[in-house]
Amino acid sequence: MQHMRILVLNGPNLNLLGLREPDIYGTRNYAALETFIRQAAQELGCEVDVRQSNHEGVLVEWIQEAYGKFDGIVINPAAYTHTSVAILDALKAVALPAIEVHLSDVDAREPFRHVSYAGMACQKTFKGLGFEGYKCALQYLTEES
Ligand code: DQA
Repeated sequence: MQHMRILVLNGPNLNLLGLREPDIYGTRNYAALETFIRQAAQELGCEVDVRQSNHEGVLVEWIQEAYGKFDGIVINPAAYTHTSVAILDALKAVALPAIEVHLSDVDAREPFRHVSYAGMACQKTFKGLGFEGYKCALQYLTEES
């Protein structure tokens, strides 16, 4: 597909990257993550709209609005990964190809991070790769779907 349009969503507290638990999430800030994602998209020849919200309902609305406007979704739902049936249902409702990303390796952390609701509606998960996980997700969407 030419110029796939991909919506990249980041959930709560990712705006505090750099400040937030740098031993787990690294020292680069959220602006650096957005720049990294835009650069990756340019290299891969896709269009991205990168957004972050601390609010579950806002993320649900952005997923709903993606229907008909985007060809795929890359989502790091952050803490909502492990709690949000609403985000899972929104992803299932629009049925766009979706890829889950986590900066850290959630499966190597506390047991409550081992469950992913959003992941149940995603084709693939990239975890523990830091920023690079977003590039892998964009690449997967542009090549596989
Ligand atoms: C995270 C992992 C989640 O468990 C956590 O709540 C986050 C970030 C990650 O990118 O590693 O906020 O999604």
